[in-house]
Amino acid sequence: MEPEYLYNRLTVHFLEQLQNQKISSMVRKSIQPYKELMSYYSCAMMEVEMKFKVLSEELSMRDDRNPIESIRTRLKTPQSIREKMVRKGYPLTVESIEENLHDIAGVRVICSFPSDIYTLAEALLKQDDVRMIEKKDYIKHPKANGYRSLHLIVEIPIFLHDHKKTMKVEVQLRTISMDWWASLEQTIRYKKDLPDSDFIEKELNECAEMGAAMDARMERLYGMVWEGNRDL
Ligand code: GTP
Ligand code: MG
Repeated sequence: MEPEYLYNRLTVHFLEQLQNQKISSMVRKSIQPYKELMSYYSCAMMEVEMKFKVLSEELSMRDDRNPIESIRTRLKTPQSIREKMVRKGYPLTVESIEENLHDIAGVRVICSFPSDIYTLAEALLKQDDVRMIEKKDYIKHPKANGYRSLHLIVEIPIFLHDHKKTMKVEVQLRTISMDWWASLEQTIRYKKDLPDSDFIEKELNECAEMGAAMDARMERLYGMVWEGNRDL
């Protein structure tokens, strides 16, 4: 049996289990390219996270406050990689995964104020080893349900022992209130195939707008107190 055929047939759960079992060298060889790809994504994710940590350090010195509340990273699980590939009708090969999925490595940056999002995004995109592949501004153009965040797909190089490889990473930048909304919206919808409901969409949208209004108000307040933009 062709290793490629075998690889394509393995469910991801099975893949994980295989690692703990005695498996033939043929099967082990067939999953090796997948494991390598995932480890490259993991490296790229660390690179991007480090870039934000460096920016955070420098901007904290400059402004005497940290523009980043927290950074979270995640590697798409084998289950969701498989599910997305099947859903989109792509062949389940390592090459196809790398070519078609741009969100395997994800870095989420939670910022203090809306303007921090754009400061950080601009600073990242200015770096000469970062190439922007895609930008979706769901802050200037929120989704119908109210979802807000700035999404970037960037390409960055990772330096391996004998060559350089370019990898894609999805970066999501949002404020605490955008993150709070997205997290609760997901909880509300979780595992429920909700029918299109104008009521739910309207409610979610209103909550998102309240969050956006609070963000703007807090940022204004910060400006008044710390930057002397307005009289107190
Ligand atoms: P997929 O990557 O297949 O989901 O499609 P896409 O690339 O068109 O998606 P998009 O870039 O718009 O969003 C990708 C990610 O943003 C999702 O995986 C979520 O993390 C987040 N996201 C997008 N829309 C929503 C939303 O309405 N609610 C929440 N909670 N998260 C969202
Ligand atoms: Mg996506």
